[in-house]
Amino acid sequence: MDKPSTDTELDRRAISILRENEWGDYTLPTRGLYPYQWNWDSMFVALGFSEFDLDRAWTEVETLFQGQWKNGMAAHIVFRSDDPSYFPGPSIWSSGQNPPTSGCSQPLVAATVVRDLYEKDREVGLPRLQKVFPKLLMAWHRWFHAMRVISGGSAIAVTHPWESGRDNSPDWDEALANVDPYGVTPYMRRDTGHVDPSMRPTDEEYDRYLKLVEYGRETGWDHAHITREGPFAVADPGVSFILMRADRDLKELAKAIDAQDSEKEIDTWLYHAEEAADYLWSESQGAYAARDMRTDEHADGVSSVAFLSYYAGISIPRRDAKLQRTLRRILNSARYSLPSFDPEHRKFDSKRYWRGPIWAIVNYIVARGLAEYGFERESERIRLDTRAVIRKYGFFEYFDPMEGRGAGGNQFTWTAAI
Ligand code: DGY
Repeated sequence: MDKPSTDTELDRRAISILRENEWGDYTLPTRGLYPYQWNWDSMFVALGFSEFDLDRAWTEVETLFQGQWKNGMAAHIVFRSDDPSYFPGPSIWSSGQNPPTSGCSQPLVAATVVRDLYEKDREVGLPRLQKVFPKLLMAWHRWFHAMRVISGGSAIAVTHPWESGRDNSPDWDEALANVDPYGVTPYMRRDTGHVDPSMRPTDEEYDRYLKLVEYGRETGWDHAHITREGPFAVADPGVSFILMRADRDLKELAKAIDAQDSEKEIDTWLYHAEEAADYLWSESQGAYAARDMRTDEHADGVSSVAFLSYYAGISIPRRDAKLQRTLRRILNSARYSLPSFDPEHRKFDSKRYWRGPIWAIVNYIVARGLAEYGFERESERIRLDTRAVIRKYGFFEYFDPMEGRGAGGNQFTWTAAI
């Protein structure tokens, strides 16, 4: 049953995983490893639900925003309870929110998903869109554009690897090495009790993740200060491109509800999109790459999110030829696409979380952008490879791009959603 052999069986199994992981009005990423509501997980989940239960899909969006802060931020985890099987829980974050949440955000796929939901049935969607649009979507986008830029620049920073959703990507290695873990409060990890430790971030990384949480907590979660002065601020192609796409979709939603002032405000954000892409472009790597905002150094290595520029609506001919060459090289260097990090790079690790494995959700958005720009062959290859590994191994959290094997959590909701 875990390895469905036909498409119908595959669909049936995907739907039952979404249903099995429902937790009232929201959905867990998977049982055990992630016992709360995660931000971008939830939005991909909504997309999955929209294939067979549009009402439930809207509900998933609405519950995510129960954890929205007064300053507009939609947090990366909404806790609602304290489950001892997960660390770090609500007391470590001390967000002061009700329901309790973490203190950072996550890639803003929500507006794009809400647009998809709305387009599926405009009549059903309109009243729900009207509710989520101003407070929830606009306020959260505004938070990102105000709180995660460094003055004079336009690139969007993440101030914790968890905010990027790509926790242990090599994109953060250099910036994370500059975070001094000395004095971190002793703690016990729980993730490695659920999943093989060789597939998870290292203890050295965890010490720094926790140190960054302690830093944020000590500032009273002053997000502007954390971005400006904190120990970690990296411009992330993932968050930046996903936000650009979300801004464009939000603008279409503003038109749908005739919110002209919002349209104008969104235009001011989009005005800076190309400049933000310029900041991320690395000529020597022939790709967009993460860039440490404290040192201006690019990460040395190409992640799959580099190819989200198409999804973001950024196409600059003099760069695209190079970017396409880099994409083809990476596609040719793995048996299954799309590895989250360049397989020819010394830091590539086919099983360790974001240092190489394939993630179905990234495959979906990269392939969507490629198809929109006419790169059908590459897009289709990514789509078929995603299906192949799921069919062969089951609905895992991520997959080894060399062997195709599943890794991390199993019965994983966002993989089923895709
Ligand atoms: C975890 O706990 O591993 C999550 O990725 C943090 O968001």
